[in-house]
Amino acid sequence: KRLIFIGPPGSGKGTQSPIVKDEFCLCHLSTGDMLRAAVASKTPLGLKAKEAMDTGALVTDELVVGIIDEAMNKPKCQKGFILDGFPRTVAQAEKLDEMLKKRGTGIDKVLNFAIDDSVLEERITGRWIHPSSGRSYHTKFAPPKTPGVDDITGEPLIQRKDDNAEVLRSRLAAFHTQTEPVIDYYAKKAVLTNIHAEKAPQEVTSEVQKALS
Ligand code: AP5
Ligand code: ZN
Repeated sequence: KRLIFIGPPGSGKGTQSPIVKDEFCLCHLSTGDMLRAAVASKTPLGLKAKEAMDTGALVTDELVVGIIDEAMNKPKCQKGFILDGFPRTVAQAEKLDEMLKKRGTGIDKVLNFAIDDSVLEERITGRWIHPSSGRSYHTKFAPPKTPGVDDITGEPLIQRKDDNAEVLRSRLAAFHTQTEPVIDYYAKKAVLTNIHAEKAPQEVTSEVQKALS
């Protein structure tokens, strides 16, 4: 399966991706996770991306298209993939179409994690992540067994630098102006399914599984 998960910050893309990935043996390609890893290790790519990410703006199309093109060549992505957080502009969606055409494939399904802006601040400000695995927790909705500690490795959890109310406003603005047109782009191609992303995590999982079965 070749899937795209699209939705605003905190809509649950990163929470549902690992579940779907394991179920269908796909690779999970999160441009946000890949960019954060590049920023943390101060690669040239990371240095270019950092300022936009810290302020909640999008990084350039060129930068993210490059990392996706490279990642899709990995052997583990040949069976299929979940694109989480990409494409986020119509230009990125067009580039993706070109990339897939070159490989003789296309997108099977786009899941739109639809949710009202008003619930996202609580989700974002309560999130804690385990950076090396990408696992995320929430102080209220998905608490770790021990506060501040990853359940599996016992390593410390951190908060993302952009997970505060102020930067969230910029991220949401970027979503509405630049990413919403991408939803229309896929609706016109008749590959879009809407998910009720405001429901509890397990209910969202069932809806996602139904959409993909
Ligand atoms: P990115 O990392 O993609 O961030 P985002 O889109 O803002 O999305 P989030 O990761 O915040 O949300 P999510 O939907 O994954 O939420 P999660 O499941 O964790 O991008 C970061 C930055 O990188 C961008 O701002 C940009 O600068 C750059 N970037 C990335 N891709 C780019 C691109 N293609 N082009 C240009 N720039 C790009 O859930 C959030 C919290 O809620 C968690 O704590 C979770 O436990 C909890 N939760 C999840 N589901 C539920 C539920 N159903 N009920 C209650 N709580 C829930
Ligand atoms: Zn995410």
